[in-house]
Amino acid sequence: MTPPLTILGIESSCDDTAAAIVTQAGDRSRVLSSVVEGQSSLHAAFGGVVPEIAARAHAERLDHCVEQALSQAKMALSDLDAIAVTAGPGLVGGVVSGVMCAKGLAAATGLPLIGVNHLAGHALTPRLTDALPYPYLMLLVSGGHCQFLIVHGAARFTRLGGTIDDAPGEAFDKTARLLSLPQPGGPSVEAAARNGDPAAIRLPRPLLDRPGCDMSFSGLKTALLRARDAALTPDGTLSAAAQADLAAGFQAAVTDILRDRTAHALDAYIDTIPACPAFAIAGGVAANGPVRAALQTLCAARDVRFVAPPLALCTDNAAMIAQVGAERFRLGLFDDMSLSARPRWPLDDRAAPMLGSGRKGARA
Ligand code: KG4
Ligand code: ZN
Repeated sequence: MTPPLTILGIESSCDDTAAAIVTQAGDRSRVLSSVVEGQSSLHAAFGGVVPEIAARAHAERLDHCVEQALSQAKMALSDLDAIAVTAGPGLVGGVVSGVMCAKGLAAATGLPLIGVNHLAGHALTPRLTDALPYPYLMLLVSGGHCQFLIVHGAARFTRLGGTIDDAPGEAFDKTARLLSLPQPGGPSVEAAARNGDPAAIRLPRPLLDRPGCDMSFSGLKTALLRARDAALTPDGTLSAAAQADLAAGFQAAVTDILRDRTAHALDAYIDTIPACPAFAIAGGVAANGPVRAALQTLCAARDVRFVAPPLALCTDNAAMIAQVGAERFRLGLFDDMSLSARPRWPLDDRAAPMLGSGRKGARA
């Protein structure tokens, strides 16, 4: 058996500053600590993430997060085997803050430095939580990204398709703004939808009649704006009942789109790799109850193993970055002090680039 590895992970690509310690032995990983300091309150007044504010907050909080992660794991820097850090894609100021912090630690300790693609972190989360063997099909669905990937290994991914415009998390966040619900939009729209009727307001499901597994969410957003305007009272307010129905109608449309496109992606994946099929979801939108339930039911009907990480590891965290770090360490994939931030960094660089430019600057 290979000797265990202990990795410090650092994440700062959007609006969460995070550090974590993960140990890995064989195919089993253990999260010894995972510290996530969100920045929602700093951005709340602006209705979205302000890159400059995010970068400054990361720079101020990273040291504290690393200290907390070490102390919660009861470890010192000398107990580590490597430092893994998100080097992109994301908001460049935040990514630079994390990379500088990791380089400083690596220079001071002499530990190896490993630059990690944030999307690989999400894509390998089922290995961290469930030791899921390769290859598996992944739906990575977050605030800035939405794509189906066959995950062959820690450094090999095939993109089957994805959104051609907005990411679903972005659509949840915009929906929350339209319905005067707090940010981040996903959890607040999900909570409001619990009191609503998903059939009361019928919203479109674009591209469902198309082959393949590409998706579109921007038409849904426009339809929601129209439906919201139609539901306003004469004095320009939205009743709680209309707010709940609109949230439920929106969530039902996203769920239907993801279910239909996942069925197509499963066909393509099983065609290529028929033995022991497994499907996993990750990214912030994977925290959504109805989305998880719909995809779980779909997989059960097709005899496909279904893996959904615990909610805290679906949204941004550093344990997933440490997991990728451990796997890249085993593959001998290290970086040096020339490591730089990559605001755009597709996981599958052979796939045609996706259209548009999202909240995080890249629909990789
Ligand atoms: O993966 P993540 O933490 O950051 C990115 O890499 O984007 O995802 C954040 C996104 C936000 O858009 C947030 O609204 C969405 O995930 N999200 C949800 C839920 N929790 C977070 N969307 C739907 N339902 C949820 N429960
Ligand atoms: Zn993310």
